[in-house]
Amino acid sequence: MILVTGGTGLVGSHLLYYLCKQHDTVVAIHRKGSNQEAVRRVFSYYGDNTSLYEKIQWKEADITDVVSLADAFKGITHVYHCAALVSFDSADDAQMELTNIEGTANIVNLSITNKVKKICYVSSIATVGKSIQGKLIDENSEWNIEHSNYGYAITKHGAEMELWRASQEGVNVVIVNPGVILGSGFWHNGSGKLVTSVHKGLKFYIEGITGFVGVEDVVKIMILLMESHIINERYILISENTSFKNVLFTIADLLDKKRPNIKITKTMSAIFWRIEWFLKLFGRTPLLTKQSASSAHNTYYFSNEKVKKELNYEFRPIKKVLEKICDDFKKDH
Ligand SMILES: NC(=O)c1ccc[n+]([C@@H]2O[C@H](COP(=O)([O-])OP(=O)(O)OC[C@H]3O[C@@H](n4cnc5c(N)ncnc54)[C@H](OP(=O)(O)O)[C@@H]3O)[C@@H](O)[C@H]2O)c1
Repeated sequence: MILVTGGTGLVGSHLLYYLCKQHDTVVAIHRKGSNQEAVRRVFSYYGDNTSLYEKIQWKEADITDVVSLADAFKGITHVYHCAALVSFDSADDAQMELTNIEGTANIVNLSITNKVKKICYVSSIATVGKSIQGKLIDENSEWNIEHSNYGYAITKHGAEMELWRASQEGVNVVIVNPGVILGSGFWHNGSGKLVTSVHKGLKFYIEGITGFVGVEDVVKIMILLMESHIINERYILISENTSFKNVLFTIADLLDKKRPNIKITKTMSAIFWRIEWFLKLFGRTPLLTKQSASSAHNTYYFSNEKVKKELNYEFRPIKKVLEKICDDFKKDH
């Protein structure tokens, strides 16, 4: 039996759709108050009329609460671990440590005691070494805490260490390290917010370059890796290295909106995040943090050769990914 954590998030919900196509039942955990309706909506983007959605066996559990989690592990042989707290606000660092590292340690411990056969863990390109700007980064690039010393990267790295511990204790492991994941639904979080912002007339753009990937490629590869004989390996998942500017302009064109036309320079970002930090003192959630402001200007090129070669996999081009997302966005608005 399969267990999915983070099933109510972007990656987990699309993953659940593909798993439900293949299996009679899939166990997924959710926290009290989490939005399962969003998962139903994701299934509808694939044309599902609820029959596949009904295959999900929801169990209430928090990955930081071993007691509730232990119950969800009954009869589980394979775990897709997608749950995490994703934040670039240093105020969330302690909670990220708890969710991303301790939560993953709980998943690993329960996998060991329940003799789980394999775990597929969703990490991030944030844990792949990237100190040398402009050089192609691959799975062997050494991660250096001095160059990535922000909470999210540190806690995702810590979580990967937990997975390697599992591999030492008899549980097979595969780790994926996706770039920025683009996918339908969740229009007010993560990459979905990019689409919503352009729709609302976003005026600003940033020229930083990084790896982008469609959520469908991420989850299809996770399933292929889980079902393969490959164990104890990690894979960078990106379709293309491109600029935020290109992504924002493409979304604007697809939504028939004006392209953002004010380029944010590094100096402007530095001023903005300080203003945002000041407004946070009055209770406002920051749109830009020191970390997100600086990382959005970086130029990083990631290699997807390892996964392409080993799985003989072709990624969908980002233009095609964005076409589907904008079509789904139009259906919802
Ligand atoms: N999105 C990206 O661009 C991106 C890029 C690279 C890597 N990743 C990684 O991909 C994974 C999935 O990301 P996502 O974008 O799908 O995130 P997301 O949409 O923010 O979803 C996060 C999921 O984690 C669950 N969760 C958080 N804390 C939990 C806890 N204590 N116990 C149980 N569940 C908990 C949430 O459940 P609730 O519904 O209860 O909140 C939700 O289902 C994460 O590991 C992330 O680090 C994401």
